[in-house]
Amino acid sequence: MEPAIIVHGGAWSIPDFLVEPNIKAIRRAVERGYEILNSGGSALDAVEEAVVIMEDDPSLDAGYGSFPNEEGLVEMDAIIVDGRTLKFGSVASVKRVRNPIRLARLVMERTENHMFVSEGAEKLAESFGLDLVDPQSLISEFALRVVRDSGTVGAVAIDSRGNMAAATSTGGIIRKKSGRVGDSPLIGCGAFADNLIGAASATGKGEPIMRVMLSRLAVDFLARAPPEEAAKMALEVMLKRTGGRGGIILINSRGDVGFAHTTKRMAVAYAKDGEVKALVSELPPAEH
Ligand code: GLY
Repeated sequence: MEPAIIVHGGAWSIPDFLVEPNIKAIRRAVERGYEILNSGGSALDAVEEAVVIMEDDPSLDAGYGSFPNEEGLVEMDAIIVDGRTLKFGSVASVKRVRNPIRLARLVMERTENHMFVSEGAEKLAESFGLDLVDPQSLISEFALRVVRDSGTVGAVAIDSRGNMAAATSTGGIIRKKSGRVGDSPLIGCGAFADNLIGAASATGKGEPIMRVMLSRLAVDFLARAPPEEAAKMALEVMLKRTGGRGGIILINSRGDVGFAHTTKRMAVAYAKDGEVKALVSELPPAEH
């Protein structure tokens, strides 16, 4: 089948100074993911590599560029999900891993467990040969200029064999309390993928997302609605039940992609049928 990929660089009040850098970053990420898919690569490889590009970009809240917590340190969370097996790997509160999504993939494929946190996750990273870095080296000039909100990056893809995958990575909310973990590393909250229905990656403030398990909810809606509509339905449930706002990207088993957000802006890029599009979507003031 025709492969497809959609990525996001966060749904929040993206300040003007981040709009162009964000668009550049998500375009590079989606192009890399699409290249992998078009050369016969797996959806898992495509979402991992797309997220690595966004983690390495200083303008996005994940990996290098993560928003610092109240102590001025980064604490990062990430998850990757395999829609074929429903297996996932996730890490939370890691401070010294430059690409948490790589560690999440290793957790999924090289351990019998699904989730590791903090120092234990970092020990595991070392045992897998990942370099640990100075936490201060992960703070970018862009991140220091942000005053509120949370970013997050994510990707979902379907490959030519019809396998789907989802990945999400974040530095979380700016100046969050030390030890606070949001939705991103939690299965069904920050991401979900099931080959039988579709895949999702969520962004926004983690607490409301966790309460409605936004990614799982949106994939459930995908069983009866096209991606954009399913995304809107899930966000509407979250807004009505919790007052929380966010964004979500979706792909279904036919390879249709879609997204929606209830925040002011959302950075999104997608590639399908040979075409690539990257944008910062903006809602009119009455709608956010
Ligand atoms: N969605 C990212 C977070 O709340 O940590």
